Amino acid sequence: MKNFKYNTPTKIIFGRDTLSEIVNEIPKYGQRVLLVYGGGSIKKNRVYNQLTELLIKNKLFYTELSGVKPNPSIISVREGITICRENKVDFILAVGGGSVIDCAKAIAAGVFYKGDPWDFYTGKAKIRESLPLGTVLTLSATGSEMNGFSVISNEETRQKLGTGSELLKPKFSILNPEHTFSVNEYQTAAGTADIISHCLEQYFSPQPGTYLQDRITEAIIKTCIHYGPIALKDPGNYEARANLMWASSLALNGMISTGKEGDWATHDIEHKISALTDLAHGVGLAIITPAWMAEVLDEENVDKFFSLGCNVFGIDPSYDKHQVAQESIKLLRFFFLSLGIPETLSKANASVSFDKFDEMAEDILSFGPIGVFKKLEKEAIIRILKAIS
Ligand code: NZQ
Ligand code: ZN
Repeated sequence: MKNFKYNTPTKIIFGRDTLSEIVNEIPKYGQRVLLVYGGGSIKKNRVYNQLTELLIKNKLFYTELSGVKPNPSIISVREGITICRENKVDFILAVGGGSVIDCAKAIAAGVFYKGDPWDFYTGKAKIRESLPLGTVLTLSATGSEMNGFSVISNEETRQKLGTGSELLKPKFSILNPEHTFSVNEYQTAAGTADIISHCLEQYFSPQPGTYLQDRITEAIIKTCIHYGPIALKDPGNYEARANLMWASSLALNGMISTGKEGDWATHDIEHKISALTDLAHGVGLAIITPAWMAEVLDEENVDKFFSLGCNVFGIDPSYDKHQVAQESIKLLRFFFLSLGIPETLSKANASVSFDKFDEMAEDILSFGPIGVFKKLEKEAIIRILKAIS
């Protein structure tokens, strides 16, 4: 296990009837709020009404940025920065899934930066200051509600890139599982796959001696495998939604990557695909992950696959470890299929033509090599793209 620093300053307010806590939390940081939300789901499920009533009743000024799209665009970020400056906003409240929260984080940092906020994502600028922000999570998936990452798309350059800073960690997040009852089957499946992928990206690590982190990770994956199908069948099942919601935060708040390096190659590949096709992030990951596993499995790393197979999928440990490894890849693929996620990009209506693969692989490698569990060369990335097309 490597040395580590672990800092999760986000206050989690979890459970039913917790929305009203915003009126206790926001005034600790500001008085003039930018409310950031997406395409209208929060109006349909009435979270918007409840929220704005609370803000008005408590005399908190608010202005809005709405229409933040999935795979959020840098255009919304620029728009949000202008609104903040014009209205002297001093606090941002993101109400939605990962896209809304990531967009809010980019705005929070961009307000203090004279240049274009895209610079944070290309590495041209570092985040040095940020407005405080809080979140009301409505979709269990990314973990953005409890981490300092933000992923933004740029249609002009056809890139989707991430950045991270301690300054972007939300001050508080309201996690009311009831706010996710209205999430449809497709997004519930995508979110569940994203949480599993975050677990696997950190599970498949080259560092030995992280027994505790690995067992916690397996427990989060098992939670998703148990409750994902229940939430699909019964969207208003509080227990299922609550377990998925907490799994979302725990999978990417830094806890399971303490003392180790995560691989993240699957995410690097997915971000390129969703930049080109606008595919839902979790669906892309569910398609890529089994192909990535099949590509990287070898004699040296087979033990990790063996642990996954025995501890998560309950495969008999007396079987040959290579057999267990192959079986665990198969069972993961079956699980994603059972959630209604297809095995290939074309079946997910997100085809990318073969003649683009070379250029895509080069783009994916443009910020340096990817993969630490196993480094992926250009040819390996192309093989994965072919396998999933
Ligand atoms: O826009 P609205 O109307 O709100 O609808 C959204 C959107 O269409 C809908 N939705 C959200 N909550 C709902 C709901 N529909 C009904 N009821 C509700 N309660 O779901 C759709 C997808 O929302 P989105 O926010 O895009 O999904 P997700 O949370 O999966 O976020 C995906 C984005 O996060 C990035 C991804 O790359 C992608 O851009 N990621 C962010 C990370 C981070 N910041 O740590 C890490 C992740 O690995 C990921 O890369
Ligand atoms: Zn993800």
